[in-house]
Amino acid sequence: MKRILTILAALAISFNAVADEGMWLLPLLKQLNGKDLKAAGCKLSPEEIYSINKTSLKDAIVHFGGGCTAEMISQQGLLVTNHHCGHSSIQALSTDEHNYLMDGYWAKNLKEEIPCPGLSVTFLVSMEDVTAAIEKGGDAKALEKDAEAANPGCEARVTGFYNDNVHYLIITRTYEDVRFVGAPPASMGKFGGETDNWMWPRHTCDFSMFRVYAGKDNMPADYSPENVPYKPARSLKVSLKGVQEGDYAMVMGYPGRTQRYQTAEQLKQMIEVNRIRIDARTVRQDLMWEAMCADPSVQLKYADKYAGSANGWKKWQGEELAFANLNIIGREEKKEADLKAWIEADADRAKKYGDPVKKLAKLVKDTDAAKRAFTLVTEAPYNIELVELVGYFNRNFGGALQQGQDTLAAFEAAKGEMKDIYRDYVEELDRKEAVALLTFYRDRAKPEDYLWEGFEETDFPAYVEHIFDSSVFTSYEKLSACPLSQAREDPAIGLYNGVATVIMKYLPALYYNVDPMTAKAFKDFAAALLEWQNGKAMYPDANSTMRLTYGHVLPYSPKDALKYEYFTTSAGLLEKEDPSNPEFILPAVIKDLLVAKDFGRWADKKDGKLHTCFLTNNDITGGNSGSPVLDAKGNLIGLAFDGNWESMSSDVMFEPDLQRCICVDIRYVLWLVEKYGKADNIIGEITFVK
Ligand code: ARG
Repeated sequence: MKRILTILAALAISFNAVADEGMWLLPLLKQLNGKDLKAAGCKLSPEEIYSINKTSLKDAIVHFGGGCTAEMISQQGLLVTNHHCGHSSIQALSTDEHNYLMDGYWAKNLKEEIPCPGLSVTFLVSMEDVTAAIEKGGDAKALEKDAEAANPGCEARVTGFYNDNVHYLIITRTYEDVRFVGAPPASMGKFGGETDNWMWPRHTCDFSMFRVYAGKDNMPADYSPENVPYKPARSLKVSLKGVQEGDYAMVMGYPGRTQRYQTAEQLKQMIEVNRIRIDARTVRQDLMWEAMCADPSVQLKYADKYAGSANGWKKWQGEELAFANLNIIGREEKKEADLKAWIEADADRAKKYGDPVKKLAKLVKDTDAAKRAFTLVTEAPYNIELVELVGYFNRNFGGALQQGQDTLAAFEAAKGEMKDIYRDYVEELDRKEAVALLTFYRDRAKPEDYLWEGFEETDFPAYVEHIFDSSVFTSYEKLSACPLSQAREDPAIGLYNGVATVIMKYLPALYYNVDPMTAKAFKDFAAALLEWQNGKAMYPDANSTMRLTYGHVLPYSPKDALKYEYFTTSAGLLEKEDPSNPEFILPAVIKDLLVAKDFGRWADKKDGKLHTCFLTNNDITGGNSGSPVLDAKGNLIGLAFDGNWESMSSDVMFEPDLQRCICVDIRYVLWLVEKYGKADNIIGEITFVK
């Protein structure tokens, strides 16, 4: 769309960008943020942050496992990310005997590093604006194909920004031999658990370390013992200076999703639908938690399932609260009314844009019932693990058939695929979850979405006992011994089919067949906003592409008369410690070190304390987890790992006074590596700035 290009070009001379708000696109930094970056205190030029011709800061930053961020901290491919980002990989490597998740782990040499099948990291090679080509009707797939041919070993993707008003061709390189190097015990990496999650003051030592391996040519290679540590074009130096209030700070990383270009009606719907998720997860999480607390083996098996569920569950509750407290809907409605008045004030504009807000409101109305029903079925009965197991088996079976295998061979192949999935399955817990989730579903679903004939009269405890007693899908042993004829009659398939039928009733309309009018209204809404705000630098919604956010180290006031300091210290770990609460247990060794004030070279130069976490007003969201927090010269001072409770509406609106990015101080991280992990090998790889 030409007008957007004109708008962005116009910004090159007007830029009113201000620090804090904004997840800025790297190729536009010079145009949109150049002056302001400098005014904010950045000592690097935009070109030193992102360049397609020379090595720049961006070469040290990776997309970790597709959902988090990590950064290179040595010339031997060593990376650091959050503990909660490494969590699922560490869990997958752990057993009751070698419980790296609960006990932590430290490789003392390359040989002790543990391969993590399925884990990958992705480097950004370049981004190119291809809006003009796409608007002229260019084929994104063809652009991607050409780019991949021109860049061997790379992937190319055309991605839309500003609600698809702008498109970039993004070229990346992915490494799939990634090995586990070290992590603190979960008691430290997750100190404070769900109680402290999304909140300040914080004391979590939220980090873990991995290493990227490459072929001898430094290029991506499948796992092989012959592979060697990857040599990055750039790795970050670490500063031990610590932070002061007002210091410049920036975060580079991969924010996942925000909704800053959505209408009030869309947002209202999002909040209401999330309430269904919260309620369903409460039912399931209570049962998981009880079983986890009762048995360490169950705790390990369900640690990642629980954390994944609970993180969203708490976020949505905070969001609901912040929406009310901060009048998010009211403010959005006011903005939309102003936008409408601006559009209507000019006949050409009115013709060009029409009323996109109204069109989107109709979309919300038309899809509302489907969205709710879909959410209910996916969050409740679809979360019965037996249903997921049958679904996984079906997909594998179907896949093998599609590859041309005959029925029996496909059946055996699908069984084989199931081997690992039972490792983290506890049938007894799943039985309880099944009864609770079916009951929850019956209480809320519309009768036309009941899972089978007579669903409302079903005695769920008896039903669950019957299918779990007779299904072969409850264990790998039973499944692998089972002939095809019996598997076909398995009672769990009936349950699965009931759930799948409801899902398929809603899925296509909601996600596959978005009608062109809706897509246009969505695009027009952002285009109108951009033109209306002409002169103000605008950033697009987060979409898992690399961004920069810059601002300062700052405290905040959560409510009247209360002021939160901008950093925490190890004193808080001792204050919060509670041996009777699994979320607040301090390992004895850690406690001894803290009581003895054995902080070594990691103590703050000014006050001699061990600083644990700090706050900035950087604009981040999920996906930024693990992102480097950098000082004015681009040195590593911490890792971003969370947002704060009072501004949980932040994905929708930035709150300058209230919104903070919660970071773990790099000195706390390295203190733990050295004093607890005794991993001098790791410290020895890092370059410190004087
Ligand atoms: N809230 C953090 C985020 O979404 C994740 C923190 C993980 N910790 C936890 N206790 N679940 O980035």
